[in-house]
Amino acid sequence: MKLLLVVGTRPNFVKAAPLVRAIEHHNSTNPSNPIDWRLVHTGQHYDDALSAALFRDLGIGEPHQNLNVGSGTHGEQTGRTMMAIEEMLQEMRPDWTVVFGDVNATLAVAITAKKLCLKVAHVEAGLRSHDWTMPEEINRVVTDRIADLNFATTDGAIENLRREGIEEDRLALVGNIMIDSLDYWNASGQESDPLSIVEESLLAGELPQFLPPRGFALCTLHRPATVDDPVVLTEIVEMLDSLAERMPLIMPLHPRTENRLRAAGLIERTTRIVYTRPLSHSQILSMVQDAAVVLTDSGGLQEECCVLGRPFVVLRWNTERPETLRQYGGTGEVCGTDAMSIRDAFHRAILDHKTRPHRPDYWDGETAPRILSWLIELASEQPYLAAQPT
Ligand code: UD1
Repeated sequence: MKLLLVVGTRPNFVKAAPLVRAIEHHNSTNPSNPIDWRLVHTGQHYDDALSAALFRDLGIGEPHQNLNVGSGTHGEQTGRTMMAIEEMLQEMRPDWTVVFGDVNATLAVAITAKKLCLKVAHVEAGLRSHDWTMPEEINRVVTDRIADLNFATTDGAIENLRREGIEEDRLALVGNIMIDSLDYWNASGQESDPLSIVEESLLAGELPQFLPPRGFALCTLHRPATVDDPVVLTEIVEMLDSLAERMPLIMPLHPRTENRLRAAGLIERTTRIVYTRPLSHSQILSMVQDAAVVLTDSGGLQEECCVLGRPFVVLRWNTERPETLRQYGGTGEVCGTDAMSIRDAFHRAILDHKTRPHRPDYWDGETAPRILSWLIELASEQPYLAAQPT
């Protein structure tokens, strides 16, 4: 079987790593029937902290190829990815092209492979925020619609796909592959001390003298809806700065967020916040593990907080991951982006001492082997052709 895994951004790498390990395990235990595989990085993320350093941290080695598409408008980024991957796909003609998550690389590669009548598998299918202003929602819906096999994280995701008319033989409930990565980190014993992590990556603000376990807040922001509008960003960050009076607030910065904060002069104005450079996967998990509360607009962090049993607050108006919320047994809540709601949700979170780790069904660290079994089993089937004439 020929397998092409394509990744483009930081969260994609975290999702692909367990599958790489599962393939390597298969090849070492089945030397007579090895999988011929390639890991390709589209190059959507290229900064060392968001890219190469992460591959090292996840222990999966370098991708076989980097398409170097870089940043740009959605059209530029998607178009460049399609042009570059088309050539690779034609040359390799994999039995499966596997894409992850909801980023521009996911959409671009899925469309290109399908147009070459190659089979596409989508890992993390079926998530829906129903918010069509999010580029990720468009990427998810289109990718799921055309993928031959949709690997869903939860029952809810399967239901979303059914409602959209996706046939049963294109659905597989396999669980959440991010949690395979989380368990791998847990088992590797890489946990480190939050204060040394912050010291090592400090960007702006004063290094706290102590960061007692459960005595600090962690915040990450990177989505266009939270960081691109200076009015929204100012309201959020000024509130975070005032919450930092109550306990140290650590904020690792995505390059996009750093650019926006600098442009609005906000880093200089919010002196209580401790800003750091982007953290590695293992560093961010260590921070989450010890945080009193996590404030974030990231979907992946929401899932990790839920499994690690840490309270979180989603700085968005919706989420495609409802199973991580308190009302479904999880550990967080959605609070939006206005200052007063953030303040109230922050206080609710730090006063809640009942939060416990929660794993939805199949979030058991075994998602990657399940995915690989499906891919092996269905490798020789014909691609699904939605427009086949009757
Ligand atoms: C992308 C994904 C988002 C995902 C996030 C994870 C899409 C539409 N969005 O958002 O779903 O949650 O990755 O981080 O695919 N930049 C750098 N260096 C880099 C990469 C980006 O400086 O290595 C800066 C550039 O100014 C760039 C901006 O960040 O224009 C945005 O990068 P982009 O890849 O377009 O989207 P993300 O915001 O990272």
